[in-house]
Amino acid sequence: MQAWANIETVTPERFKEGMRRLAAGVTIVTTVHDGERNGLTATAVTSLSAEPPQVLVCVNRRAGAHDLIHKGSRMCVNVLSHRHKNLAARFSGQLGIYGRERFNAGRWMTLKTGAPVLEDALASFDCIVTERIQAATHTIFIGRVVDVRIRPKARPLVYASGTYARLEHQPKSSRAKTSSAKSAARKSAASRRRSGRTAR
Ligand SMILES: Cc1cc2nc3c(=O)[nH]c(=O)nc-3n(C[C@H](O)[C@H](O)[C@H](O)COP(=O)(O)O)c2cc1C
Repeated sequence: MQAWANIETVTPERFKEGMRRLAAGVTIVTTVHDGERNGLTATAVTSLSAEPPQVLVCVNRRAGAHDLIHKGSRMCVNVLSHRHKNLAARFSGQLGIYGRERFNAGRWMTLKTGAPVLEDALASFDCIVTERIQAATHTIFIGRVVDVRIRPKARPLVYASGTYARLEHQPKSSRAKTSSAKSAARKSAASRRRSGRTAR
């Protein structure tokens, strides 16, 4: 370990340039404590384990929601769809809107913990915070999922190269056409083999 002690790290700029290549699903992490709500747009969110169901979220200690998550020990991870681009901008401070004002857009409800749940999120994971790990500028919050709300299919919102994007799904009808075309080609190849002809 000691041999590496003096090795220089890359610059934050170079690090960020590399991380911009990592496409990520976008969430809004919300919390409530003593009746005060707050939330932030976050991509540093991941599934930790299924047994027990746990997620982890990395939150900058300077974020408005940080101390509330810490004190209230509850949070909800709302997975955004491509329709939520404006909400993502709102909860990342890009519109100059802060604290409870952020909830004046979107429809919000609660599940078990009381943390705000976005009604039309792709999925919302309602969590009790069980562990907090300090890591330089951030706290890693580990949340035990006590409730989940899952909405009908929609396209996820993705963030990559400093911009929001959506995944293009192949429409069902064209998928059906592609698979029927493949099956027709297979049948015709089989029939050619039976009759001794080869495809050109
Ligand atoms: C796409 C995107 C992803 C972000 N991911 C995180 C994250 O994972 N953790 C974090 O602390 N901040 C993240 N941020 C920054 C926060 O959303 C932003 O700093 C927010 O304004 C913090 O809330 P505050 O204004 O109440 O301090 C992200 C911002 C954007 C635009």
